[in-house]
Amino acid sequence: MEEGITRIGVSLPKNLLAEFDSIIKSRGYSSRSEAIRDAIRMYINEFKWLEKESGEVIGVVSVIYDHSYRGVTDTIISLQHDFNDIITTTMHIHLDEENCLEMINVKGDMAKVKKMVGRLSSLRGVTSVKLITAFKGEKF
Ligand code: NI
Repeated sequence: MEEGITRIGVSLPKNLLAEFDSIIKSRGYSSRSEAIRDAIRMYINEFKWLEKESGEVIGVVSVIYDHSYRGVTDTIISLQHDFNDIITTTMHIHLDEENCLEMINVKGDMAKVKKMVGRLSSLRGVTSVKLITAFKGEKF
């Protein structure tokens, strides 16, 4: 075994492993170990970013809300004007009769991004707010 490599045994539900295997196959991984190493790296990077309290970040905030809920559309628009310095672009998708998806691209200080996410999450009529950070590692 290669130096600095540790072998681990993992118990997984069959369907989870089957799904994982089908994804790694379609992505062209030659071994399950390599795919698991990549998955762990992605997991670590994701959490490093999410745990970051400040510093430059780039990402996207997805917001799903019910536009028929009184006042929510206007509130979301004015909130975005308040955070204009960290928003680069916004895309709006009408999902169905009631629901809208707003994809807000952000670039700036994580503290401010988190503040915006917090305010969006607290709005009535908003059903989901997710923050996705776009870069791996510490530098970009
Ligand atoms: Ni809409």
